[in-house]
Amino acid sequence: MGQIKACLFDLDGVIVDTAKYHYIAWRELANELGFEFTIEDNERLKGVSRMTSLNILLEIGGKTLSDEEKIKLAEKKNENYRTFILKMQPNEILSGAKEFLEELKNKGMKVALGSASKNAMTILERLELTHLFDAIIDGTKVSQAKPDPEVFLKGAEALNVKPEECIVFEDAEAGVEAALAGNMRCVGIGSPNVLGKADLVIDGLHQMTYDKLMKLN
Ligand code: BG6
Ligand code: MG
Repeated sequence: MGQIKACLFDLDGVIVDTAKYHYIAWRELANELGFEFTIEDNERLKGVSRMTSLNILLEIGGKTLSDEEKIKLAEKKNENYRTFILKMQPNEILSGAKEFLEELKNKGMKVALGSASKNAMTILERLELTHLFDAIIDGTKVSQAKPDPEVFLKGAEALNVKPEECIVFEDAEAGVEAALAGNMRCVGIGSPNVLGKADLVIDGLHQMTYDKLMKLN
């Protein structure tokens, strides 16, 4: 592994808690289709693409639909979800995230976003964080979902660094696997039971500093 030259951040669950809005929108869709969707069910959707999320939801409800119907439902859910994210405020940034991003910028570290979300740009704008990223790779720029490393490899390429010079911050197991598959180091945000494959697991970015990062070199 080389010297750490770049930090790649997942968005949902690392910088902001959007899972609660995804949950409301998916639950409303499930209820319209005539079944329940619980907060435990919602855990299965973290880090997973929109269409895969819908497929999981339909499997829970025991529904089989055509591709055409699925596209319509995914769009409907996204419209509902966007009514929530369009109202987001900078005070919804998770504790310590902005401070850590600013510290990295001050230290000259390269920073990119690596998110499955096609709404990432909207969310960063609402949170007033866009200027802290040197590159943004989101769901509109990738064809393979995590645990495939594509989103992070594209991030490394955009920052002009080697994968082994990157460290990824991730809250989803599939995201940790994507980082490792890309030959990158990874800091897990959440439970060591779920993210145990990461090099370090912390509760949130409030526990991270540049000095701690350098210890992972
Ligand atoms: C990920 C979330 O970041 O983005 C998933 O963890 C979500 O829950 C995925 O399904 C896709 O998001 P979007 O905004 O494109 O529907
Ligand atoms: Mg996430």
